[in-house]
Amino acid sequence: MAHILMKYGGGLITTKSQMKTVDRDAISKLSRIVSELSGLGHKVTIVHGAGSFGHLKAKQWNIANGAQEDIIEQQKEAVNSIREDMLQLNTEVCNSLSNHDIESKSFPPSDWARDTGADFSGDLSPIENCSEGVVPITFGDVVDCSPPKLFGILSGDDLMVRIGKEIPGITHCIFLLGDTEGLLSAPPSDPNAALIPVWKKDQEVSGEHDTSQDVTGGIFLKLESASMISTIIPNVWFIDGRKPERVIELLKTGTTRGTQIVQ
Ligand code: IPE
Repeated sequence: MAHILMKYGGGLITTKSQMKTVDRDAISKLSRIVSELSGLGHKVTIVHGAGSFGHLKAKQWNIANGAQEDIIEQQKEAVNSIREDMLQLNTEVCNSLSNHDIESKSFPPSDWARDTGADFSGDLSPIENCSEGVVPITFGDVVDCSPPKLFGILSGDDLMVRIGKEIPGITHCIFLLGDTEGLLSAPPSDPNAALIPVWKKDQEVSGEHDTSQDVTGGIFLKLESASMISTIIPNVWFIDGRKPERVIELLKTGTTRGTQIVQ
């Protein structure tokens, strides 16, 4: 039996540029795969991103950089509002799983985590000890931070690192991407971009980080996170989340189309 830790990228489950637009078809396709994996006897843990339920307001009020005296009141309002929006997106993911007969339990980071980056503090044991047959879910969120920051953005990629490294027994760690088949030799918009099937730490990449919408680290944070996880977990992959059946192929055959991250 495998234990698969999957991250649904925010760009996969929402339209990133349009405030709070959920992609129900994409989510439903993912739920079907989770159901198939459970049917095959595997355990699944899910982390999801924010997309347009997090990045746009966070960008508008500079939430990632913490409290700013001149706009603190608006920032506090934005923090509450982003947390509510994230719960709403999380409910979409859970409802879709439930429609596919999968029971899940959510662990919103604003309840249990503080500080940002991969060394955030928080107890992962409730996620680890979630009842058998129940899929634990957590997500990128606004978390409380020590002063003077007061708040900041904890990315789902950082959650992947900590869960991947600290919860024993995870065999596969999969980043499902919304706009690419894996790591490309050039930005996805470049017609000459080719899929890199295996990526090793320090291998150069020419990525792009769309700072107009993205308040966390984009593809570079993802690579760094994946590379850290690959020190512990043998199967770390970037896979096209629009074709989630590739996850099944990976489990059945040991390989698929995507990028494997190795040490
Ligand atoms: C960001 O989480 C969380 C917020 C902006 C509130 P992620 O960094 O995991 O989200 P995506 O996958 O880039 O959307």
